[in-house]
Amino acid sequence: MYTASQKNNLLATAKEFALRELGVDDIETLKEILNFADWTYYVQDDPLLADVEYDTLFAKLKKIESHHPELITPDSPTQRVAKGLNTEFTTVNHLVPMLSLENSYDAEDLIDWDRKCRELSGDENIEYCIEPKFDGASISLIYENDNFQRGATRGDGVQGDDITTNTKQIRSIPLSAKLSASNIKQIEIRGEVLLTKEKFKIYNDKLIADGLAPLANPRNAASGSLRIKDSTEVAKRGLDAFLYHVSNFTLIENVVVPEVMKTHYGSLHYLEQLGFKTSIQHAKVVQGISNIIDICSEFEAKRDELPYEIDGMVIKVNRLALQEKIGQTSHHPRWAIAFKFKARQATSKLLQVEYQVGRTGSITPVAKIEPVYVGGVTISSLSLFNDEVIKEKNLMLGDTVLIERAGDVIPYVVKSFPELRDGSEHEIVFPTHCPVCNETLYKPEAEAVWRCTNINCTAQIIERLAHYASKDAMDIRGLGDALVKKFFESGYLHHISSIYHLPYEQMKGLEGFGEKSMQNLQAAIEKSKSQPLHRLLFALGIRFVGETTAKTLARNISHIRDLYTMNIEQLCTYEDVGIKVAGAIVDFFSHPDNIHLIDELEASGVNLQNNMKQVIHGGELSGKTFLFTGTLSMKRSDAEAQVEAKGGSIIGSVSTKLNYLVVGEDAGSKLEKAKKLGTIHILSEQEFLDMMG
Ligand code: IVH
Repeated sequence: MYTASQKNNLLATAKEFALRELGVDDIETLKEILNFADWTYYVQDDPLLADVEYDTLFAKLKKIESHHPELITPDSPTQRVAKGLNTEFTTVNHLVPMLSLENSYDAEDLIDWDRKCRELSGDENIEYCIEPKFDGASISLIYENDNFQRGATRGDGVQGDDITTNTKQIRSIPLSAKLSASNIKQIEIRGEVLLTKEKFKIYNDKLIADGLAPLANPRNAASGSLRIKDSTEVAKRGLDAFLYHVSNFTLIENVVVPEVMKTHYGSLHYLEQLGFKTSIQHAKVVQGISNIIDICSEFEAKRDELPYEIDGMVIKVNRLALQEKIGQTSHHPRWAIAFKFKARQATSKLLQVEYQVGRTGSITPVAKIEPVYVGGVTISSLSLFNDEVIKEKNLMLGDTVLIERAGDVIPYVVKSFPELRDGSEHEIVFPTHCPVCNETLYKPEAEAVWRCTNINCTAQIIERLAHYASKDAMDIRGLGDALVKKFFESGYLHHISSIYHLPYEQMKGLEGFGEKSMQNLQAAIEKSKSQPLHRLLFALGIRFVGETTAKTLARNISHIRDLYTMNIEQLCTYEDVGIKVAGAIVDFFSHPDNIHLIDELEASGVNLQNNMKQVIHGGELSGKTFLFTGTLSMKRSDAEAQVEAKGGSIIGSVSTKLNYLVVGEDAGSKLEKAKKLGTIHILSEQEFLDMMG
C-alpha cells in the first residue's frame, strides 16, 4: 500500500513535524502520517513511530482541529475517540444476508464437497482458496465514498446491531480507504474480530487478580467486547480484526468490475493493498482436494503457534463466476466449507467440589470430574473460581458438564446439561465456614470471592510459606509445596521466620529427606538471606503486590521500614500503584504481627535494605534501557537484575526508547524491528556478559 520511498518520506516528515509548530496547511499531511502510523502499528505489527512521536503529532492535530472544526474529516484519527456511552445498539439490515458456513470434520467430508462443487460447476480443475477460520466474532463493515460508515454484528444474519462507535476502537480497521481509485462507491466487507492470546491472557490475569472469574475464551471476550456500552473500555481491550470476504460492492459509474475482484484471493489482495488486515497472510490458492486436506492437517498441527485462536480452515472456490454458478442455500454458500479442527471440548461428570484456601484466605471451589482427555491433556480437576460461577452455570453434583481447553487457556466448565438429569444429582452447597480452620467465611462487598479472615488458618500459613520460598520470591530451592506441608505437619515450620530456625539435628532421619538434601536446603535458606529487597517484598505476600509492584516499591526506598510510615497518597505517586494496592500496603505494615515478623527476619540476618539504591542512581548504565528476547542460557530475571544493579532499566518493547536488545536463540519479531529501527545496539548473550564484566 505504501512504497518504500513513500514510507521514508512520511517518516521524515513525521520527525520534522514533531519538532516544529504546525498550521492549517499541514493538516492533511498530519492526518496521513497518523493514519500511516496506525497502519504500520496495528495492521503490519511493525511500528515505525515511537509512542512519544505519535502522541506529540496527535496532540498537534487535535489542537489545529479545535481551532478549525470545519477541517475535521471522518477519517481523522481524532474521530476514533468516542464521546459518551452507547445507550443502545440500533438494529440495522445487512446489504446482503451474512450466511453461515457448512462444516466438515474429515477428509471424506471434503472429498464429498469437492465432488459436488465439480458437478455443480462443470469444472474439473477448480481452484480453491484455503485460509484460517478465525475464532472470534463476525463483523460487517460498510465503506462509502472512501470513508468507513458502519460496523455491525452478524445478529440473525439478516439484521445485526449497529456497533459503529465500538468498531472505530479497533485500530487495525482503517477509517478510510481509497476505493474510489478502483471506481468502487460502496463496499460491504466481512471479517472476524478477535483478541490475540496475549491480550486475552493479560485481560484475564487482571480479572483473576481481582478475584473475578476469567472470561471463557478469546472468542467470548471478542463478542462481549463489541457490545460494551463504554467505547473507551472497548479501546482498552486492544481488539483486532481480520477481513476475509467482500460480500457486496457497487461501482461509481457503469464501469467494468475491477480484475482483482474476479477471484476471492484477488479481493483479499485488494483489501490488503487498501490497508486492511486480512487473512491473505495465510491464504493459499491450490487445485485438488488432496492438497487442501494436507493443508488442513498442517494448520491443525501448528494452530498453537499462531498468536490468535483458529478453530479450523475455510475453503472457498476462488473464481467468483464459479461461486455464482455453484450457488447457495438459504443458510450457507455451496461454494465454501469450513473444516473444523478436532474439538477441544469434551463432556464429563461433575463428581465433587472441593474448596481450596489461598494464601490470602480466598476460597476457590475446585470441580473434581471424571478424568477426560481434551486438547491434548487429561483433566480431572478444574477451578470454578467463585460461587457465582456455580450459580450462573447451574451446576449440580452428578451433572454432565461440558469442558473446554483451548490452547493456553486454563480449562474451564462451559456449561451443564440440566436436561440430562435423572434426579440423582445434588445441590452444591457453598461452605459458610473455612474447610480448614472453621472460621466463618466473609465476602467483602466489592469482591467476588469468599474469604477466611483468620490469618492463622493453617491452610493460609502453608500457602504463605510456600509462596515465600517459591522461585520468583526468595527462591529457596528444594523447599517446594510438598516439603513445606510436610515440615509444617511435623511441627518444624510454624511461620515464615521459622524457616531460618529449622531444627536440622532433629530432622535427621525424616523419611525421604537425606543428609545431602538437608545440606542443600540449609545452603539455599542461607543464600535467601541476601536476596534483593524486591524479592522479600513480593515474598511477604502483601495483597495485590506482585513482582512488578514489589520492584517499584523497592526501587523507591532504602529500607523496608521506609514503608511503615508511608500513607496512601505517598504510595500512589509510584508508577502503577493505585489506591487499592496502596491501601493493602498500608494495611500490611499497620499489623503488629507483620512488624514482628520483619524484626524476626532481621534478627535472622535477612536483608531488608535496598543495597542497590546508591548504585542505581550513579550506576554506569544509568539512563540506559535494555530488553531481552529469545531463549537465553541464563535466567532472564538474573540478566535483568544485573542491568538494574548497574542502574539500567528494563523496558517491555522495541521502540526508539530502547538502547540495547540482548538476543538469545530463536529471537523473532523484536529482533527484526530493532534492526529496522537502526538505532538500537543488538548484543548477543556473550556480548552482554562481557559488557557486564
Ligand atoms: S467466509 C459467505 N472466512 O466462521 C462466506 N468465515 O462458522 C462467509 N469465519 O460466519 C464466511 N473465519 O464468522 C469466512 N476465513 C473465514 C472465516 C470465517 C471465521 C467465521 C464467520 C462465519 C463462521 C461460520
